[in-house]
Parts: sequence; C-alpha cells; structure tokens
Amino acid sequence: MSLAKKTLRELDPSGKKVFVRVDFNVPLKDGVVGDDTRIRAALTTLKHLLASGAAVIAASHLGRPKGQMVEELRMAPVAVRLQELLGADVPVKTVNCVRGNQVQKAAAALQSGELLLLENLRFDAGETENDDALAEELAGLADCFVQDAFGTCHRSHASTAGVPARCKPAVAGNLLEKEIRAFEQVMSQPEQPFVAVIGGAKVSDKILALKTLLEKVDCLMIGGGMAYTFLKAQGHAIGSSLCEEDRLDTAREVLAEAAARSVEMLLPTDHVVADAFFENANTQVVAGDLPSGWMGLDIGPETKAAYAAKLAEARTVVWNGPMGVFEMEPFSHGTSAVAKALAESHAVSVVGGGDSVAAVKKNGLQAHIGHISTGGGAFLELLEGKVLPGIAELDDALSD
Ligand code: 3PG
Repeated sequence: MSLAKKTLRELDPSGKKVFVRVDFNVPLKDGVVGDDTRIRAALTTLKHLLASGAAVIAASHLGRPKGQMVEELRMAPVAVRLQELLGADVPVKTVNCVRGNQVQKAAAALQSGELLLLENLRFDAGETENDDALAEELAGLADCFVQDAFGTCHRSHASTAGVPARCKPAVAGNLLEKEIRAFEQVMSQPEQPFVAVIGGAKVSDKILALKTLLEKVDCLMIGGGMAYTFLKAQGHAIGSSLCEEDRLDTAREVLAEAAARSVEMLLPTDHVVADAFFENANTQVVAGDLPSGWMGLDIGPETKAAYAAKLAEARTVVWNGPMGVFEMEPFSHGTSAVAKALAESHAVSVVGGGDSVAAVKKNGLQAHIGHISTGGGAFLELLEGKVLPGIAELDDALSD
C-alpha cells in the first residue's frame, strides 16, 4: 500500500470550507472521553487548517448506533475534549444532527478559524450504507475534503468514501499520511530480520494477514487463542482451549507455507492455563501438551523469554493482537512482555490493534515504539494488503 495520494501540502485551504473526516470513535467513561489519543492524533491536521484560514467542518462516528439516535453516543463529550485541546482561541461549534437545515446553516455561517463538529454520523442510517443523498449533502457543505480518519478508512461509508468521491480536491491529512508512511517503511523494504507478532482469538480473523506476512517476514510469532488451532493442527493436545476445528486445514497450510518459505514460525511452548474462562479461575503453568479440562489463556514464561529473545534480534517488527486474554489481569502478562521486549529492541516497529496498543500504554512504553497506529480493523486490512476505500477515493498524487 503506497499513499500515492495528494496530501495537505497540495491543498490551499485559505478562505475555504474544509470537510475533515476524523476518527473520534473514542472510549467514553461516565460521559467523558476516557482515552483521547485519537483526538490528539488529529490535532496537527486541524490546527494546520485552522491556522491557514480554513473553516473546518469535522465529522466522525462514535460507536455503532445503527442509524438510530442514541443519547449516550452523542459527540458532546468529544466536542468538550476537542475544545480543551484546541484552546479557547478556536471556537468549537456543534450541531445536534448530521444533515438538514440546521447543519447547512451552521456550515454556511462558519468563519475562517472556526470549527464545527457534526453529530455522530452513524445516527443517520445513510452513513454505513454509503447513501448517495447523504454523501451529496455532506459534500455540499464544503469546498474540499481532508481524510484523517485512518481508523475508519477500511469502511466504505458515506463520509469516508462517498464524500471524497464528490468533494474535490480530496486529500490525505497528516495523521493518515503518517500512518501510511510508517506502514510503508516496515512493509516495503524492511531491514532484516523482520519479525511479525500476530495474536488474537481466531485464525479466521487473521488468516489473510498471515498469508501476506509470510511473503515478507523472516519470523512469525503466534500467540493468543489462535495459537491453539495451530498447536492442534500440529497434533498437540490443547485441553479445552479455544480451537477453530474448521480452520485446522488452514493452519496446516500456513505451517506448510512457512516451511516452504523458510520462515521461522514460533508457537507457544508453555502456557498459563485455567480451569475456566474466568479471571479468578484456578491457574497453573504447563509446558508442552495441555491437560484435559484446562484451557490456555496466556503464553508461559518460557515462551515469553523465547519471543523476547527473537524481538531483541529483530530489525523490523510489526505487531497486531494479544498473546493472551489481555482484558483479564492474570492473563495479560504475555502481551505486556511482548510490549516490553519490543520497547527494548532496536527494531523499527509498528503496532496496531486495541489490545496490543493497550499493552504498550499500560506499561508506559509509547515513547519506545516506532509507530503506534490509531487503527484496529484498518491496520489489519493494510496488513492484508487491501486497498482501503477511504484512501482510494482521494486525489492521486501527481507523478514525478
Ligand atoms: C475503529 O474503532 O476501529 C474505527 O473507528 C472503526 O469503527 P467500526 O469498527 O465501528 O467501523
């Protein structure tokens, strides 16, 4: 995936109304923004546009309200945080709807240096349907479009794909550009050894990414629930661990492909096992095959050490997905160990996905990771080698 799209550098926003698709899909806690990373990540684009004399119409979805107005998913708490981050000099205005007269009037009245935040786009069913009429109406609010919602670029929705197809020029914002460049740096000409760490519950969720990565990496390290489908495919006993029986052949294919390409494939050799899928379940560490009635919920100490040693040698690392049930404290340590090992390594690193990023943050390691993506699904689709619709609709960069 190369950006090959116009960027903010090729846009003169002065005196223009600019529609900026941002990804402000942030966790809320008790009516306030719990983690503002995604809002902060969009600030360079927003500040640049505002300082250049644009009137900015920013829009995002929040959660999955499925075309209904859901009171708890209003953008108001996001607007409050955005106002705090932009400071009093930039008035953040809001409307409580996505389309219609009120929105059109507010957009028309917006002055240079002001920002209008639209209501949660997914309150309108037309957003996820990429409805033409909604896209037309949103595009009509502005003179140009900036895509900075990297985390939502894998969705072909009205605001991500329909608006940039209609509102020209349509260019990439600073966050989107940074995300793609970081990704390109690791995927196009990675310094070797190139190690991919892939975790998560299911082989089926990650299979396309695994296949793409096998073509590029020297070592593939597997963790999380998906490891047990691989281990069973190799003939190991996995107790009552998660297993996708219908993916055993897929797992065998991946193992065979890795062997054919001389890619080292590391699977857990020991496990933190529990007698129930429960935070306070009885646990023990088991090496090799798992006893019946016990399920593997995290990688064990020997595996942590082996994975850390491999990461210490790596020159390039991409990581997506947890090594265990990260949301349960007793089974979060394998994921944290990978985060720490990655932070200590000298590799160029890119990390994406909710739990992997959460492990980096929980351990305060952000400054030691090359790039922490703001995307979950979008990051995974990039790993799969897909063209993201929210990027495809942007104007092509002029060739040299
Ligand atoms: C995300 O959090 O991954 C993005 O904001 C996309 O959200 P979605 O999965 O609800 O489309």
